[in-house]
Amino acid sequence: MAEREYQIAVIPGDGIGTEVTPEALLVLERLAEQSEGRFTFDFTSFPWGSSYYLQTGRMMDEDGLDHLRDKDAIFFGAVGWPDVPDHISLWGLRLAICQGFDQYACVRPVRLLPGVPSPLRDATPERIDWVVVRENTEGEYAGIGGRNLGGRGTDREVAIQSALFTAQGCERIIRYAFQLAMTRKRKKVTSVTKSNAQQYGMVLWDETFDRVRAEYPDVETEQWLVDAMAARFVLRPETLEVVVGSNLFGDILSDLGSAIGGSLGIAASANIDPERRYPSMFEPVHGSAPDIAGQGIANPIAAIWSAALMLEHIGLEAEARQVMDAIGKTTAAGIVTPDLGGHATTREVGDAILANLGSAA
Ligand code: NAI
Ligand code: MG
Repeated sequence: MAEREYQIAVIPGDGIGTEVTPEALLVLERLAEQSEGRFTFDFTSFPWGSSYYLQTGRMMDEDGLDHLRDKDAIFFGAVGWPDVPDHISLWGLRLAICQGFDQYACVRPVRLLPGVPSPLRDATPERIDWVVVRENTEGEYAGIGGRNLGGRGTDREVAIQSALFTAQGCERIIRYAFQLAMTRKRKKVTSVTKSNAQQYGMVLWDETFDRVRAEYPDVETEQWLVDAMAARFVLRPETLEVVVGSNLFGDILSDLGSAIGGSLGIAASANIDPERRYPSMFEPVHGSAPDIAGQGIANPIAAIWSAALMLEHIGLEAEARQVMDAIGKTTAAGIVTPDLGGHATTREVGDAILANLGSAA
């Protein structure tokens, strides 16, 4: 009997989600073996996703959240498939979990791994190393709005999509960013808004940022508009450390960051409930990639890196570092999938990472 058994819910989902998830689980199992009884994982897999929807009319069971509630963490692959509208698959599963469990901090590291080419000139692992902290429960993805007047003719229909900004919602994500900055090499938080044009919600965000930063005199702060920040990601990436923004801005900037880091196929993410009232969820940033699904060439690094974020969250920090080292050794050796310019398959990259795991830290 292991000293500690972690209960992990696994939702592989659709497309390459089902190909990269097993590689991440193999890494976790190997670590448990190496721990010699210190810890073990109990994985419970759920078949939710687009084919489940086509069979049952639901993306997940009605009482789905109840099945997940008592787990230590949730590991998620990706959802979405061409025969199910994307807003149904996204709202029916991923957003339902993030919002249901109030996972308000979406954390997305941007790092250039050894040996991985960046599309940026002069990119080095030292210059490309920051974290995007995205508000994950409200903002532009609050789902508030409606469509009407279609009866007057399709060309007369109207739609309203509102953004929700609450003082508490802004404060908790901004505070999370400051706490994270305190653990980083440089103590610096950059807040991203568009408060010149969005004069209500984003001005509330700015004012909250001002209030919270007063409590962290040791942390350097900046406030930038999102359009200028998009350019700065490309032109002066070495100046970034912790970048905090709304749901939409964090979403877009983290994809830009993952491209700068070499590929969407390596970008990892954590959806965290910092108060630990509910399980947090760990998943690659990428989607189900129908264009390459079934070919065995999806990059498993995003999923395996996400597993490392999960290890960190559940208190296995040394093991998380061990996984990142193994990923780095693998990319440095050029054992990479086609999205990074290599010829390796999903399995080959997974196997190489397992081989590079070495022994317990
Ligand atoms: P995507 O991330 O699935 O793919 C974008 C491009 O990146 C594709 O060319 C794909 O082949 C490539 N790519 C992505 N992950 C890769 C990997 N691990 N290895 C190698 N190449 C990789 O985004 P797309 O095409 O916009 O969406 C496809 C479906 O995924 C849609 O149904 C969408 O709604 C869903 N989606 C789901 C997400 C989630 O579950 N969190 C996130 C983003 C999209
Ligand atoms: Mg996205």
